[in-house]
Amino acid sequence: MLTEHLTEAERQYYYMDQCHQWVTSQEEKLGRPLTASVITFGCQMNARDSEKLTGILEKIGYTMIDSEKADFVIYNTCTVRENANMRVYGRLGQMKQIKKKNPEMFIALCGCMMQEPEVVEKLKKSYRHVDLIFGTHNIFKFAELVYRRITEGKMVIDIWKDTDQIVEDLPNERKYPFKTGINIMFGCNNFCSYCIVPYVRGRERSRQPEDIIREIEKAVADGVVEVMLLGQNVNSYGKTLEQPLSFAQLLRRICRIDGLERVRFMTSHPKDLSDELIQVMAEEPKICRHLHLPLQSGSSDILKKMNRRYTKEDYLKLVDKLRRACPDISLTTDIIVGFPGETEEDFLETLDVVEKVGYDSAYTFIYSKRTGTPAAVMEDQVPEDVVKDRFNRLLERVQTIAARVCSRHEGTVQDVLVEEVNHQDPSLVTGKMSNNIVVHFKGDASLIGKIVPVHLTSCKNFYYMGESVKNN
Ligand code: 5AD
Ligand code: SF4
Repeated sequence: MLTEHLTEAERQYYYMDQCHQWVTSQEEKLGRPLTASVITFGCQMNARDSEKLTGILEKIGYTMIDSEKADFVIYNTCTVRENANMRVYGRLGQMKQIKKKNPEMFIALCGCMMQEPEVVEKLKKSYRHVDLIFGTHNIFKFAELVYRRITEGKMVIDIWKDTDQIVEDLPNERKYPFKTGINIMFGCNNFCSYCIVPYVRGRERSRQPEDIIREIEKAVADGVVEVMLLGQNVNSYGKTLEQPLSFAQLLRRICRIDGLERVRFMTSHPKDLSDELIQVMAEEPKICRHLHLPLQSGSSDILKKMNRRYTKEDYLKLVDKLRRACPDISLTTDIIVGFPGETEEDFLETLDVVEKVGYDSAYTFIYSKRTGTPAAVMEDQVPEDVVKDRFNRLLERVQTIAARVCSRHEGTVQDVLVEEVNHQDPSLVTGKMSNNIVVHFKGDASLIGKIVPVHLTSCKNFYYMGESVKNN
């Protein structure tokens, strides 16, 4: 094989070509196209990785379909909470039967869950019908690994512990033509004590600003109007670059891109959210009026045990500062209930922050013990019934407040980026306001990808019904 002198991307294109030849010969043999399906669990980061997997599968010659009865099925897994893992094992169990009917099909697994050695051991032992397993660090080698599976004819496993490599310029297929996620950094250095992410996604590394800008410019030339900048902790972007650049400075440069209308980003860690960033958000109209700011807990004691490095007061002060700079900003959050040692008083502190901040929405999670994290061995794990009760009370508060907060835009006219024709009522289209709230209004498919001014006629708890201003 003469691939040593090539760049990594060139090597991967070489393997895509090799695999393509195999797919073509299989198609001739079978007299039908070969199909593939990517099934995604977890966060925006995984959704973006799945677009990359899809791009490579298409380049190899597979026809993408939306079914696990495909010739190539790949699960892009998440392991942030235990139930995410259970769902993958459940699906794999069912796949055994499907593979019996199509023995030549390939089943592949990748993503965060594969970075856990116990998972791979279990798969090796009890899930022999899996063909290919790789992790989060070598996803850029997907084509090469598919080629190895084709030529070796047996299960291929390739998991890396870590990497400092970022491979640019591989194919990727956007799910929507008008919006896309853009990775700006990978990994996390925070080590919140409950979180498995730093162990499965590795250390923080930022992409070069030029590479990010180039990718966005290319996307805009293809019709993208909204980007979501992705990273586990975008506020610490650029710290590890040879020529350090702050996230706020990167945002300024991105906002200068002609044709780009909206910029979103996630996730922000409260401890790293700088005044400089708040100022940029206030000044740049392209930055969406929405910030996802994970709280995790409202109790300073619990926050300390979580290693979050801010207090309840710090968080509330930050929210104040944000609201002063951007009065119309929508805030959303993540909250964990039942962290080890959480008392009723601690939980009431969380409810207090929920009341004081008034989130547009909050993702609420029951604490899930992740082996290998410091919290997994902490004493005072909270009994299940207590956690359930707190979870229900939190959800009730969050929903009541969200409905109230959400309704504050009623009667105003807002720009809505139309995303799709409504699934339930095809005379409506569905889109999102700058602050991420969903709006339905009369319209047709020709509006998809366009930003339309819409009169918000009525608020239905967490979404709006509206009327296009142009039609009136
Ligand atoms: N248990 C419950 N929720 C968790 N999260 C991360 N780790 C855990 C865990 N062990 C939540 C956090 C994070 C979101 C992505 O998932 O709230 O912000
Ligand atoms: Fe996990 Fe904390 Fe990193 Fe978020 S910031 S990925 S919660 S360790």
